[in-house]
Amino acid sequence: MVQTRTIQLIIFCLLIISMQVLVQLGASTNSGDYVVLEPLKEEWENIPPSWDGSDPCNDPWEGIDCNNSRVISIKLSSINLKGELSGDIEGLSELQILDLSYNKGLTGSLPQSIGNLKSLSILILVGCGFSGLIPNTIGSLSQLEYLSLNLNNFIGPIPASVGNLSKLHWLDLADNKLSGPLPVSPGLDMLVHTKHFHLGGNQFSGEIPDQLFSSNMTLKHLLLDQNQLTGKIPPSLGLVQTLEVVRLDRNSLDGSIPSTLKNLALMSELFLSNNKFTGPLPNLAGMNALYYLDMSNNTFSSADFPQWFSTLQSLTTLVMENTQLQGEIPPTLFSLFQLQTVNLRGNKINGTLNIASNYSSQLKLIDLQNNSIDAYTVRPGFPFQIILMHNPVCYEERSEDYCGISQTNFVYSTPQENCLKTQCSSDQILSPTCKCAYPYTGDLFFRAPSFSDLTNTSIYESLQKSMLSSFSPNQVPVDSVSLSNPKKNSEYYLVLHLQVFPFGQDHFNRTGIATIGFALSNQTYKPPPKFGPFFFSGESYKYFEVGSRGTHKSITKGIIIGAAAGGAVLLILSVIIGVLVCQKKRDQEAIRKSNPFATWDSIKDSGGVPQLKGVKCFTFEELKKYTNNFSESNYIGSGGYGKVYKGTLPDGQLIAIKRAEQASKQGALEFKTEIEILSRFHHKNVVSLVGFCFRQGEQMLVYEFIPNGSLKESLSGKSGIKLDWKRRLRIALGAARGLQYLHDHVDPPIIHRDIKSNNILLDERLTAKVADFGLSKTMYEPDKGYVSTQVKGTMGYMDPEYYTTQQLTEKSDVYSFGVLLLELITARSPIVRGKYIVKELRQAIDKSKDMYNIDEFVDPAIPSNMTPISFRKFVDLAFTCLEDAGANRPTMAEVVKEIENIMEIDGLNSCAESRSTSVSHEGTSATFDHPYSEESLNRYNGVTNSR
Ligand SMILES: *[C@@H]1O[C@H](CO)[C@@H](O)[C@H](O)[C@H]1NC(C)=O
Ligand SMILES: *[C@@H]1O[C@H](CO)[C@@H](O)[C@H](O)[C@H]1NC(C)=O
Ligand SMILES: *[C@@H]1O[C@H](CO)[C@@H](O)[C@H](O)[C@H]1NC(C)=O
Ligand SMILES: *[C@@H]1O[C@H](CO)[C@@H](O)[C@H](O)[C@H]1NC(C)=O
Ligand SMILES: *[C@@H]1O[C@H](CO)[C@@H](O)[C@H](O)[C@H]1NC(C)=O
Repeated sequence: MVQTRTIQLIIFCLLIISMQVLVQLGASTNSGDYVVLEPLKEEWENIPPSWDGSDPCNDPWEGIDCNNSRVISIKLSSINLKGELSGDIEGLSELQILDLSYNKGLTGSLPQSIGNLKSLSILILVGCGFSGLIPNTIGSLSQLEYLSLNLNNFIGPIPASVGNLSKLHWLDLADNKLSGPLPVSPGLDMLVHTKHFHLGGNQFSGEIPDQLFSSNMTLKHLLLDQNQLTGKIPPSLGLVQTLEVVRLDRNSLDGSIPSTLKNLALMSELFLSNNKFTGPLPNLAGMNALYYLDMSNNTFSSADFPQWFSTLQSLTTLVMENTQLQGEIPPTLFSLFQLQTVNLRGNKINGTLNIASNYSSQLKLIDLQNNSIDAYTVRPGFPFQIILMHNPVCYEERSEDYCGISQTNFVYSTPQENCLKTQCSSDQILSPTCKCAYPYTGDLFFRAPSFSDLTNTSIYESLQKSMLSSFSPNQVPVDSVSLSNPKKNSEYYLVLHLQVFPFGQDHFNRTGIATIGFALSNQTYKPPPKFGPFFFSGESYKYFEVGSRGTHKSITKGIIIGAAAGGAVLLILSVIIGVLVCQKKRDQEAIRKSNPFATWDSIKDSGGVPQLKGVKCFTFEELKKYTNNFSESNYIGSGGYGKVYKGTLPDGQLIAIKRAEQASKQGALEFKTEIEILSRFHHKNVVSLVGFCFRQGEQMLVYEFIPNGSLKESLSGKSGIKLDWKRRLRIALGAARGLQYLHDHVDPPIIHRDIKSNNILLDERLTAKVADFGLSKTMYEPDKGYVSTQVKGTMGYMDPEYYTTQQLTEKSDVYSFGVLLLELITARSPIVRGKYIVKELRQAIDKSKDMYNIDEFVDPAIPSNMTPISFRKFVDLAFTCLEDAGANRPTMAEVVKEIENIMEIDGLNSCAESRSTSVSHEGTSATFDHPYSEESLNRYNGVTNSR
């Protein structure tokens, strides 16, 4: 018996030692960064399971990369993340890469504060659900090189401030709902180092400004297709010698096309179709790099078929549908050696279609529907399609070879090598290397390929090979890549379905998906040049957990086994020391454990041993040790009752110790009551009691340490924490929930009696916690509805009804809460120089005004993210809480509901608040392991935090 106990104690001691070792190993992520990641984790759904760890850098969180314990990169594509991008992200001051692509569930707008990410060089949010305006602070990202916000729902104009992004290489805002004119001076014209303007698929309007282009520009891809641009193409476009791809199609541009265009010697793809261009066809002779030319559906003046088409040596594709061309097609056109497609539908081409004998070997389609051709000279059996439907040559009842359209259904997908299987048994898919697995999938969109023959399989093979070699297995765990279903969509983009198969297992992990997603979203992977600009639209990967059920657990198990093995060595080494050290402890411990309140009864009027759950009785010596002998450096504040000290438990948990001053000592009974009340609370919005110390001459309460101090300090601006409207709403909600918990979920109910901003504490996530129950009253007879008691509380917050009747009800707390709400708006104490804020505001309010005519009372520190409607509802709520008659005030449950409503109006997710795990005593230590607490302590010592 005695031996088992000794062994138990030895193991206990070793556990403590190894826990301390663990605590020291971990927790090296920069605390400011941690403080940003924690709320993100709270706010987002479907975060990687590895985010359970307490150290994002060293106990690495998937998708996060660090350098010297600073977070430098977040890459989390295609994992079905849901939630919003919180403005707190600004705290990641060393962040260089943010890629959250292909998470449709990421919604809301981009926070203004994103402009404070001074190190950010890559911002990629392709294919998410973001909406709202692009914040103009984006122009403050002075290091930004790569900006991709395409495939979202952004509205409004391009902020002119983008012109300040002097390092920008890539700008992709395509496929949103952006509108307004293209900003210049300041604006896009200043981006002389940018190679890509991908702005298609929006609602931009107005003229393309002449100032936009200059010879200083180095633009390669100018994509403005599918907008509502009007006016002429500015002649200055011809100054941008570096241009390779220009898509201006599907706008309402008019006038004649400037002749300067032909100066652009590197131009390989030019799309001017579906506009309202007039005047003569431009002569583009000399554009010898031109592969793809589409000027369809414009109202050029009638012209004979230009001879210069036949001089464009690189041409693969000529699309001139409805362009008023007339006369005969010169046979030399078809001998351009790379020619694949000629689409001349709906013109006035007449005479004979004469295809020379040395025609291009790549020709696939000559489409001449709706012309005036009355004969053709084509050797029978030509291996490509010719369409002469609706030409005189097809009018007569002759059955001609070329008078119909033969539907060719071309199907392609990367073939399997040496494979006997044809199908996989489960929902897995057969890879090109003949393995069954769960591929990462999505679509590749090529915005301006230089070819038009989609039946040439060697093109897809070259793409597939180049992808595979860029995803070499030592960087990305890719086994094979499959491409399928090539087609042109209505925007004339080439779309290909992509499947990427995992290497060495049947599914990817999140790191693998994020790596591939990033390679495609950041264009780190570059396709062969003939494919031109592209983007990828990935699907959510759903197979992280398949076939690996328990992987996570078995890893954990491995760690435990490893730790146990290590522990065994430690055990042997420490047995002797352990026995010696623990022996002595054991004796003291045993005495204390058997009756922790042994000394209690001996104290007069103590009312018996307190009824406690999970609360520790500390000795004075212990607390002395934890506070470094109640040293000045551990002193963090004081109140009417005495001083508060910070302490550290042996397991690293930080505690706040309230040490009653001689004069303010409570009677033993009151003290005991407080402990009993406190020990019953387990709610994330109520401060938890860790323990107490009670002995002759000392009364101490030991609480969890709340790093960010009181709401009062934050409102006064002392703490350096910025409380914007959103945060204030969250704090109001947290405090209301804490109070509601006391009223409705503690049995018997508790009336706090001293709700005020000093008694609302803020933890590292700015979660509000109701504190200080020194005046709390338990409603032992809740049916009575009130407690008769001597009036206590704080002037300014005190319920006037209670004051006059001496009957304390839950509604007294509601009144104080109403005052607190006004304090959240005004950041003023309720009584200043004899003026009572409640009365002042009540008199000033004019409900016909947008801001109720009390703008001047509003704390100027609330940034403009406050909407008048939520402001008014908030003020209304405060004043119903402040009704003179308690019966007319809402219950705290109703208050909670209303704050949730208000948050919804502001588009805030009040559920994110409730999703947070509730903090129990056992759980609190985890909260304090992390290092932010250290920083908060500095704040307590008067060092202002940089936030
Ligand atoms: C091009 O750059 C030079 C020097 O940086 C500047 O003086 C000039 O005004 C610029 N030209 C245009 C057209 O922007
Ligand atoms: C030209 O306009 C017609 C009718 O709107 C449309 O069907 C056709 O696709 C357009 N052609 C091109 C090449 O855009
Ligand atoms: C073709 O059309 C042009 C212009 O409309 C005309 O001058 C020419 O004679 C026509 N050629 C034939 C062969 O009908
Ligand atoms: C993810 O997979 C790669 C390669 O398959 C592996 O090296 C890496 O350790 C895995 N990461 C995690 C967190 O499991
Ligand atoms: C992102 O892509 C660019 C090219 O588009 C490349 O230069 C850069 O190295 C990539 N960044 C990373 C971190 O891979």
